[in-house]
Amino acid sequence: MDKHKLGETAKYLASKGILAADESNASCQKRFDAVGIECTEENRRLYRQILITSPQAKESLSGIIFFDETFWQKTNEGKPFREFVEEQGILPGIKVDEGLVDLPGFDGEKISKGLDTLPERISKYAEAGAKFAKWRSVITISEAIPTQECIGANVYVLARYARICQDAGIVPMVEPEILFDGTHSIENCQEVMIRTLDALFYTMRAFRVHLPGAILKTSMILPGKDSGKPIDYVDVAERTVKVLHEHVPDELGGVVFLSGGQTSDDAFANLSQIVQKGPHPWGITFSYSRALQDPVLQAWAQHSTTDPSELFAEQLKKASVAHAGKFKATKKDESFVSHSQDL
Ligand code: 13P
Repeated sequence: MDKHKLGETAKYLASKGILAADESNASCQKRFDAVGIECTEENRRLYRQILITSPQAKESLSGIIFFDETFWQKTNEGKPFREFVEEQGILPGIKVDEGLVDLPGFDGEKISKGLDTLPERISKYAEAGAKFAKWRSVITISEAIPTQECIGANVYVLARYARICQDAGIVPMVEPEILFDGTHSIENCQEVMIRTLDALFYTMRAFRVHLPGAILKTSMILPGKDSGKPIDYVDVAERTVKVLHEHVPDELGGVVFLSGGQTSDDAFANLSQIVQKGPHPWGITFSYSRALQDPVLQAWAQHSTTDPSELFAEQLKKASVAHAGKFKATKKDESFVSHSQDL
């Protein structure tokens, strides 16, 4: 394992921002259905091409996460997407979990699959130029969950995947997503985040993961989406920063956030507040899918007069301003309906 190289790559990834363009075909289907676009392979390619060829991408992004199909797709000119982005200084990444299945014996809890075939898959991606790989696990909050067994099973898989990636020269982007969906309180979310992070880093150390060569992709500490409680940016930032500072090792390579179904404005305003509460021991930035893409997909689908690539450039600029700690929410962008991830 080249620890130095892994550490340098991880630091670079957290230095600007990351676009998550790694929606599975099933997630894409839901999002395309919602705006009335047929979810064909070619339409998925055309849509992703708008995102990755944006001139603003080079300024705002240090990495893009692809889904397997997109990783191998090409621009209209015949250049593989992954090579096109790397020429702009944007590192190509790949989502490597194969989705969620029920955790037997634990109602309402999930585990991600794909670990058994990961070593072969990861060497193929590494050979083709992938520099980092994301694995998403999901923790749901409800009355009696998450159980410690569900947290334990998921962090075991995350730690093993992370070590497999590093042995192949790939930076793992370890994502234990605590779902925003639910009626839980912000205090409950905070408590679950602490349990998850403590178990995660204990297990990653036990499985000999080189922490400076790994990235944490985390949710923010939020009141449940259906709790009826509004999002208070200062409260979210204070809780999130406190928990990250106390439960994430300082030597980690970087911390990035998912948007989780927040509106774009909320996701940018929360990140901005979090950055303002620095200094932080690691680079901290966005790795958003929905918060960056929702308005763009709508404009593309509606053949809006606003050019979708202009709209994406605006979203990226806002994200970069948030990454600099200078974003101010001007209006609630409730018009952009967010859709849940695959469950
Ligand atoms: P969202 O920003 O839409 O939550 O997606 C990020 C992601 O990669 C989830 O796995």
